[in-house]
Amino acid sequence: MSAVINEWMREPGARSKARVLVVDDDVDLLALLEAGLEGGGYEVEVCGSAERALEMLEVAAHDMIITDINLPGMSGLDFCSRVVSERGNLVVMVMTAFSSIKSAVTALRAGAYDYLLKPLDIEALVHRLDRVVREQDTQREVQKLREIVAEERGFEGLLGTSAPMQKLYDLVARAGETDASVLVTGESGTGKELVSRALHRRSVRRGAPFVPVNCSAIPDTLLESELFGHSQGAFTDARKSRAGLFVEATGGTLFLDEIGEIPLQVQPKLLRALEERKVRPVGSDKESDVDVRLVAATNRDLEAAVEDGSFREDLFFRVNVIHIHVPPLRARGGDVLLLAQSFLERYAARFGKEVAGLSSGSAERLMAYSWPGNVRELRNCIERAVALGRGAEIEVEDLPERVRTHSRAQLVVGSDDPSELAELAEIERRYILHVMEVVGGNKSLAAKTLGLDRKTLYRKLQRYARAGTAS
Ligand SMILES: Nc1ncnc2c1ncn2[C@@H]1O[C@H](COP(=O)(O)OP(=O)(O)OP(=O)(O)O)[C@@H](O)[C@H]1O
Ligand SMILES: [Mg+2]
Repeated sequence: MSAVINEWMREPGARSKARVLVVDDDVDLLALLEAGLEGGGYEVEVCGSAERALEMLEVAAHDMIITDINLPGMSGLDFCSRVVSERGNLVVMVMTAFSSIKSAVTALRAGAYDYLLKPLDIEALVHRLDRVVREQDTQREVQKLREIVAEERGFEGLLGTSAPMQKLYDLVARAGETDASVLVTGESGTGKELVSRALHRRSVRRGAPFVPVNCSAIPDTLLESELFGHSQGAFTDARKSRAGLFVEATGGTLFLDEIGEIPLQVQPKLLRALEERKVRPVGSDKESDVDVRLVAATNRDLEAAVEDGSFREDLFFRVNVIHIHVPPLRARGGDVLLLAQSFLERYAARFGKEVAGLSSGSAERLMAYSWPGNVRELRNCIERAVALGRGAEIEVEDLPERVRTHSRAQLVVGSDDPSELAELAEIERRYILHVMEVVGGNKSLAAKTLGLDRKTLYRKLQRYARAGTAS
């Protein structure tokens, strides 16, 4: 784990001195141990019997107990097994003379952490305790991380705990329960496809197929038959009839990715399939019933597409019953580090590298960068850094140039330091992304604010996103 994430997880005011309780009826030995351990940096309490020790354990939290085996009253062994069974995380060490080493073995079986042979070498004892404390710290840290992971640092495959993501999870959970069509929007690489899959998994249709269709990857001439099927001989290549993706998704979810790219001539047929719940394969006169839930995604501004006539308004309303906007990565705060750590672990395992975390410098750069290509850009950036990195941590030098140098933090326009002055294009980029953030990703509004026409804004945003994904 990186220093930064460790720091971030550490509870405020974590105590620095470990607290040891020493139990022995030999007053001289107690005095010796008290002085020696205090000198070694420990907080020490002493007492003469197991009964008294049990009382003291009630009122204060100790980290370790060192107890003699031969005690008046309750024996050290009984004391040890009782503490172990009642306070599993407390370390108990037993002291014994060499002549009774057998009872030490019994103590180990009863759950003692270790035994110490009398006479004690105080210096060696302090070293031993130091090691135990370090071990315990590590264990606590690992435990905490496991808890965070087990707590599901996200939702249905989506990682992130920031407020905008919590809101998104809530919306996905609620929309999942309905059968209404959902339109998922968001910048490139924000996780629209993951959100769509989460919607399916959260719906009653989860047992049936999730069928993704990338509308921009299928040639216009084939899209209709891909979606609705075709009969044998319907066109030159149609040697066999085919059912089509609507039918393939029966009972499940049809995911139309990049729905903004559906050609105008296919749009009325899609509308009809959704409204009447029937499809007619190309070249056939028989209709069949369909039972699918539609989830569509786009990084285009569909409202603007409706305005400029490239997307039918009636289809837009049919698709956009529930609207889910996936926030850009730069609006997700510390999720950047959470995602980075998870990608880092994934690629370290894949490439057989020993990289364990981010250096504090590189974590700072990741937090300051604006991520125009969003989670995908972050993933690519970490993949590259793990592949190139040589150390146990990802260093600033392992990050791509743009991440090292670009910062959304401030628009340093008025700096007196020549090295801080940015190029005009860079100031423009930062300002445009800043405006996009302020208007919550609404491109029409951003264009208006910037005094740009929408097409110009799209072009610029697409250029930033491309620069982001090409690492
Ligand atoms: N919250 C998240 N947690 C974990 N991984 C994520 C998250 N969001 C996105 N990813 C990962 O980032 C990559 C891009 O996600 P996805 O393909 O869903 O984005 P998209 O919005 O559909 O992008 P595009 O607009 O380019 O189609 C994928 O590898 C995905 O697994
Ligand atoms: Mg996608």
